[in-house]
Amino acid sequence: MDRETTRSCMRGQPQDRDQSNPPLFCGFPLCLSIVKKRSREGSSNLIDDVTLARAIHVIAVVFWIGGVAMVTTVLLPAVRRFKSPNERVAFFESVEQRFARQARLSTLIAGLSGFYIMYRLDLWGRFGSVSFWWLHGMVCVWLLFTLLLFVLEPLFLHRWFHTRADVAPDAAFRLIQGLHWLLLGLSIITIFGAVAGSHGFLLFG
Ligand code: HEM
Repeated sequence: MDRETTRSCMRGQPQDRDQSNPPLFCGFPLCLSIVKKRSREGSSNLIDDVTLARAIHVIAVVFWIGGVAMVTTVLLPAVRRFKSPNERVAFFESVEQRFARQARLSTLIAGLSGFYIMYRLDLWGRFGSVSFWWLHGMVCVWLLFTLLLFVLEPLFLHRWFHTRADVAPDAAFRLIQGLHWLLLGLSIITIFGAVAGSHGFLLFG
């Protein structure tokens, strides 16, 4: 994809697509199709569907990665100061369980809105360019969290953490905190790349 095409994608202009009758994405919320239909009808005051999807995408990322930052930098250090190991596990689990529900929903919404933008702007070609490393980063971070939240945590991580916390609570919490820092670090690098990249700052372009 050349630079001009890239810039027009950044301005939200779809590539090689017949805009008189763009197809609808079957799984995406009804409101987007209504907004799209209205904007086709010429209501210039209305926000267009890609901008709306981008805003939804960013809000989902704020809930999700903001929650990870809160757990990593505030909750885990506070919980580690609790005297009783049982109290630590019980408190951490009750908060983390609630957050896991919120994280699952926001992961789902971020994925749907992200793929919707890709589809509408026909950005698939970006996957072939190293300038868009942040796009690969977004998909990798998303896949990692999806695997953790939807597969590993319910199937095995939850039980594993309980067993480890019974035997060696300090080591278990250290490991959990290390993993949270790793995930948060990857997410922050990705967010930096995505915001800079989608506003024209391409590191390897
Ligand atoms: C399936 C996963 C994902 C897909 C397909 C996806 C796709 C996209 C697309 C197409 C854009 C618009 C790029 C542009 O306007 O040039 C975008 C923007 C963005 N995404 Fe993602 N994304 C995904 C996951 C994530 C994740 C996990 C994060 C955070 C770690 C993230 C953070 C952002 C941010 C911060 C923006 C920039 C919004 C802006 O400044 O305009 N995305 N994403």
